[in-house]
Amino acid sequence: MGDSYSAVISKLDAFTATDFEGNEPGRLQLITTARKLVSRLETRHEKIFNIDFRNPVEYAVIRVCLDIGLWRQWTVGGGGEKTVEELAKLAEKDIEVNLLRRLLRLLGATYIIEETGEDRYKPTEFSLSFGDESTTMPSAIIAMSDHWSPASMNLPSFLAKTSYREPLDPKNSNYIDAFPEKLSFFDRCLSNQRYQDGFSGFMMEWSLYRISWPEFYDTTELVAGADLNSGAPLLVDIGGHHGHDISNFLKEHPDVPAGSLVIQDLEAVLADAHLDTDKVKLMPHSFFEPQPIHGSRAYFLRGIFHDWAYEPSLQILKNIIPAMKKGYSKLLVCDVVIPPSGASTFQTGIDLNMMTLLSAYERTEALWRKLLNDAGYKIIKIWMDHKGYEGLIEAELA
Ligand SMILES: C[S@@+](CC[C@H](N)C(=O)[O-])C[C@H]1O[C@@H](n2cnc3c(N)ncnc32)[C@H](O)[C@@H]1O
Repeated sequence: MGDSYSAVISKLDAFTATDFEGNEPGRLQLITTARKLVSRLETRHEKIFNIDFRNPVEYAVIRVCLDIGLWRQWTVGGGGEKTVEELAKLAEKDIEVNLLRRLLRLLGATYIIEETGEDRYKPTEFSLSFGDESTTMPSAIIAMSDHWSPASMNLPSFLAKTSYREPLDPKNSNYIDAFPEKLSFFDRCLSNQRYQDGFSGFMMEWSLYRISWPEFYDTTELVAGADLNSGAPLLVDIGGHHGHDISNFLKEHPDVPAGSLVIQDLEAVLADAHLDTDKVKLMPHSFFEPQPIHGSRAYFLRGIFHDWAYEPSLQILKNIIPAMKKGYSKLLVCDVVIPPSGASTFQTGIDLNMMTLLSAYERTEALWRKLLNDAGYKIIKIWMDHKGYEGLIEAELA
């Protein structure tokens, strides 16, 4: 028994993400299995310790190391194994060595960095990303303190105050209740550039994790069936943020005519979109107003409806209908599709964050069908990504 345990443990200990290149479902399956295993092995005391005592301070330490410029300097200096004293000198702010020692000891114990000996640490690929300012990781870390954590901590009292009714009203959301400004999530982002940057940074990291939509939807047919001489664009990305999805489309179809792709979003959000191409036009537009671009081949909305409950979503959808050309224009909605059972932590996590931030939710296929049918569309097909997390719902006017 002892021998077989050791053999299994060594085998498990040898796995790395590179073993799963080209096999994303296999990697995810092993993570799920490992999580189940940990959950079976841990006692209730270990579980509650992690929830109450480990996870909050783990984040706090990551944030402190960001604030003192340690991550940045460690990354810029090329990483490498260092002593605690060397790391204290590397930081941009004066930090007591023993304070840093205690902070790093936790991150070593949780494998955020690698403990290589007494008072010695090596960065991991993950910790190096915290200091890589060519990525949005630093902003994504700050978003936790500015948005997600205070909002989550407020949820129990908000739900008690609202007698445990499902939050569905964007004007009376947990987020508005949680912060002194009493603003909705998007309005509070607009009120302070740091809040907007945190949101955009997190969105970017999330976008890099989500599967590029042309990988699971046949965009070649979309382009082949487009009348590019009509003067109308090929694709309008409504609520397209800084253009991640349009850029992925452009990678697949680099020869589309200039101006044939349009990103619509709030003016202040588009001000931070930096796309160096004449193929894409930026157009400030609120999706609560009628769609101004008529006759586009496709109207694409990703991660939009999960921000809104039924009524506002219906309004967004109805605002596009007069702009669509029957038999030609397509509505492409890309969002999580919650399976009837066995939803992943990714799907359930986003669902509850949408509750916490926006009085909104992720939808099952049945809820998608109802929403789109009620708005006046017919669903042609739901194309699922290969993780089974998100679907692209292809629809036309009913
Ligand atoms: C969750 S993000 C999704 C962004 C992008 N589609 C993606 O999936 O990466 C929601 C987007 O809706 C935008 N938004 C919020 N209110 C809006 C409005 N009234 N009109 C247009 N865009 C809005 C936000 O600025 C943000 O870019």
